[in-house]
Amino acid sequence: MNGSFTWGVATSAYQIEGARFEGGKGESIWDRFADEGHMKVGGDVACDHYHRLDEDLDLVADLGVGAYRFSVAWTRVMPSGDGRVNHEGLAFYDRLVDGLLQRKIEPWLTLYHWDLPQRLQDAGGWNSRNTVGAFMRYASVLADALGDRVKHWITHNEPWVSTYLGHLYGEFAPGIEDWPGALEVGHNILLSHGRAVEAIREHAPGSSVGIALDCRPARARTDSREDRQAARHFDGFRNRWFFDPVFGQGYPDDMLRAYYVKGRIDGHEPSFVRPGDMDLIATPIDFLGLNYYTTLPVVAGAAESDDPESTPGPDQQRGFTEMGWAIDPDGLKNFLGHIHRRYKPKSIVVTENGASFSTGPGDSGVIDDIRRIEYLDGHVQAVTAAAESGVPVDGYFVWSLLDNLEWTQGFDQRFGLVWVDHETQARTPKRSYDWYRKLVAPDSEASEALARARTAS
Ligand code: FCB
Repeated sequence: MNGSFTWGVATSAYQIEGARFEGGKGESIWDRFADEGHMKVGGDVACDHYHRLDEDLDLVADLGVGAYRFSVAWTRVMPSGDGRVNHEGLAFYDRLVDGLLQRKIEPWLTLYHWDLPQRLQDAGGWNSRNTVGAFMRYASVLADALGDRVKHWITHNEPWVSTYLGHLYGEFAPGIEDWPGALEVGHNILLSHGRAVEAIREHAPGSSVGIALDCRPARARTDSREDRQAARHFDGFRNRWFFDPVFGQGYPDDMLRAYYVKGRIDGHEPSFVRPGDMDLIATPIDFLGLNYYTTLPVVAGAAESDDPESTPGPDQQRGFTEMGWAIDPDGLKNFLGHIHRRYKPKSIVVTENGASFSTGPGDSGVIDDIRRIEYLDGHVQAVTAAAESGVPVDGYFVWSLLDNLEWTQGFDQRFGLVWVDHETQARTPKRSYDWYRKLVAPDSEASEALARARTAS
């Protein structure tokens, strides 16, 4: 990737933009979910980024990173999800992209960070193949409009989350609890990924296209056969079900057996898989985006559970972030190596990594978020070690630029390098912001080590 390592910072539309009723934006499933009272606070205002674009882009520029990952709100560009294009919405992303390029920052655009147009949900959402077609048309519209300037595209963010939190556990929009319907949702999302890769290549030739998969590496808590089996099952449910098909290995046999043959679902194979689907899902990508936060030690019992994540929590060696996620940088190093061996992606980019700590301004006004710095430092070291062992890891994005709307958890969880006062919208860079600025400088130890590692392999 341009011969050097990409340092970046990431955000998503619903979590920062606000301006719900402006610029002709349509309703998304998250707007509806908030209106129905499922969230502590909805995203009508969020970080008011829509009105503070220049200020926020200046913060990215002053950070010195080479790349900014953002997502487009589908409902700004196509309020009903299909058909009419809203040029006012498109103009916002035009300004965003131009603003980045003027500041010498590469835009990394995510098409879908979970905010499906409500009109499409009403027509069946991701259970309907029509949504796949609509997503492809949306991808084409954006590639036509921005493809002359945006060179890095991410189709989906974290299909596991939109599939299961949205359609099995009902915790995220659209709040559905449907097994096995969730499997069909996941399939259509992956299908839409494949079709979008094709559409972007056609409408924005020369661009680099990938998908951001989330992971929760699992390891058996003990060496017992039961724990090892449980860990493998969890890995199949949480990781392999999405990674395997994207890399041409189809849905994992052991999971198909667990879901279908063992009688949890009628029939012996997924009825929604049609001829040609798996090839489309496996359309080659230019890079794999990996979102990594934590790992999970698994104990037996999970294999029989509908919710393996509810099994006993991780060891507390390095403590937890305020999300309750165990801090485990070695998990990132190991998983990068594992992906490299199992799937051989051309390039891996860590598209999200970060930590929630609510450390706020001290008496002097300084935000001394040392625990975030320790977290990020450990994970950057993990990435460096993976690169030095020959893993083609070409970039790293911190989640997130700003303290933002952490979905159903509202503003309580703070992941930002920049503190946001949610009353006044004032932004204050934290100590981690200064730390990251030094780290990403081209002559820093980390930048040099990563450039050396990538040149050597
Ligand atoms: C990821 C999401 C992102 C953010 C972080 C904390 O799962 O992609 O939007 O919420 O977690």
